[in-house]
Amino acid sequence: MITIIHGGHRNGLSHDAAETFKKILNEKGIETRLINLREHTFAYCCGNQPCQESGNCIHDDVMTNDFIPLITKSKAVAYFTPTYFNMPPAILKNFIDRCNLLLTVENKVSSYVSIWVTGGETVEDSLQECFNSIKTFTEICEHQLVDNGALFHPKTADEKNKIEESDLMVLEKLALHFISII
Ligand SMILES: Cc1cc2nc3c(=O)[nH]c(=O)nc-3n(C[C@H](O)[C@H](O)[C@H](O)COP(=O)(O)O)c2cc1C
Repeated sequence: MITIIHGGHRNGLSHDAAETFKKILNEKGIETRLINLREHTFAYCCGNQPCQESGNCIHDDVMTNDFIPLITKSKAVAYFTPTYFNMPPAILKNFIDRCNLLLTVENKVSSYVSIWVTGGETVEDSLQECFNSIKTFTEICEHQLVDNGALFHPKTADEKNKIEESDLMVLEKLALHFISII
């Protein structure tokens, strides 16, 4: 099972990349679960970190009951997200905050992750900053970034915001890489 997290607020390029990645994996017989975060409602992290003591989250919602257990047992997780002000969008940041609970999980599967970031600027630094903050989160969670965990190249205009042949090739390469490690 490979988990794919889409962190955007619309059905844009990062969503299409996530869907394409899922399709490639499914065609190769790999079971996947794509979570479009925007389709779900979950609380903000309470900020008191009671989970660090108890190993439980105070919230009874989809994050606690579904997403955290899923991430805990996933051998590979791929994140697809746009860049907002050089950062992950609010919904993905909330997902990250709620993953504080992950730090308390013992015997967790050693997950491999890939991070795909889209952006509207031609300035790659903007995407790189967003990428770095998600990378830092995965490192704190002791997940391992795969070699070709990639920065998606920036697109400058909306009409160009679709998956191109070159993107497809990179997604296929990443799918093969994921398959080889799960
Ligand atoms: C609130 C907001 C902030 C943004 N900030 C950035 C940015 O800092 N750098 C950038 O390259 N693009 C920025 N963009 C553009 C998006 O990252 C870009 O359109 C991206 O491709 C959208 O992905 P999507 O098609 O998956 O929604 C921003 C867009 C929004 C809505």
